[in-house]
Amino acid sequence: MENKWWDQSTVAVVTGANKGIGYEIARLLAEQGMTVVVTARNEELGQAAVSKLQRLPSTSGSAVQFQQLDIANAGSVAAFAAWLQQQHGKLDILVNNAGIAYKGNTFGADEAATTIATNFLGTKAACEALLPLLTKPGGRIVNVSSTAGVLRGIPSEQLRARFESPSGVDELVQLGDKFVEDIRAGRHTQEGWPSSMYGISKALESSYTRVLAEQLKDSGIMVNCCCPGYCSTDMSSWRGTQSAAAGADTPVWLALLPQEEFKTGGFYRDRKQQSFT
Ligand SMILES: NC(=O)c1ccc[n+]([C@@H]2O[C@H](COP(=O)([O-])OP(=O)(O)OC[C@H]3O[C@@H](n4cnc5c(N)ncnc54)[C@H](OP(=O)(O)O)[C@@H]3O)[C@@H](O)[C@H]2O)c1
Repeated sequence: MENKWWDQSTVAVVTGANKGIGYEIARLLAEQGMTVVVTARNEELGQAAVSKLQRLPSTSGSAVQFQQLDIANAGSVAAFAAWLQQQHGKLDILVNNAGIAYKGNTFGADEAATTIATNFLGTKAACEALLPLLTKPGGRIVNVSSTAGVLRGIPSEQLRARFESPSGVDELVQLGDKFVEDIRAGRHTQEGWPSSMYGISKALESSYTRVLAEQLKDSGIMVNCCCPGYCSTDMSSWRGTQSAAAGADTPVWLALLPQEEFKTGGFYRDRKQQSFT
């Protein structure tokens, strides 16, 4: 491969890698002959995924390890960061893939809070805890967001403007809290929100990616987000139009970008830049 900058000393972490797109991201990175830390909130499922990856002839040149990580649990995130520091002392690639979506017509304040706690706040917690270990320059953060989070899905122009140009991460946290409280008070439609808990959690995750990229722009770390496309996984109840492996292509492409092609603060799908709005 041209512009190959990684080798077995390169350390990649993938969240939610026990199945679906995360598993395929871990497989594609392992096939590149680097050290891949497969993480999962469920230890048994994570270990099983690692055993499966280790049995593949295509990953024989890599080291695949398992470590428990529940991104919605502060203790688990802190323990993982401490383990990574002790085990590797650095991190080159962080792929924040873990995510949840309620099925069917489920909608409520508690469910919205849970969705935001994983997709946005969990991703943010992983970034914040692992940032001190990221290689500077050269580290890469890839957040697996979604086209469901593009801002045209939000009816209120004022809310859209706040997502587009937040004063900082705190404003995004406040927007997430407001969405939950507006649902709880029965006024979310009146306040200009859509009835999509997943869409808002992903809008927050994508806006967070832009804010973080701006904060880190002088560090040489690339911070981008992407949509994997509509994939056949548990999340889509296997209705996706493409495989999880195909969905892993753009996140892995972003993770492996050569430093000379420095890109940060973007949203990509099918390896092409997309509008956040
Ligand atoms: N599938 C699509 O069409 C599609 C489209 C756009 C974006 N995406 C995004 O792509 C990513 C992967 O989705 P997928 O389709 O592969 O879904 P999936 O098959 O449901 O896999 C989701 C993964 O995230 C893990 N996870 C959930 N909550 C977690 C937490 N608190 N801590 C750590 N891991 C957690 C799950 O673990 P468990 O096995 O323990 O539940 C699982 O490993 C998500 O961020 C999703 O929003 C998917």
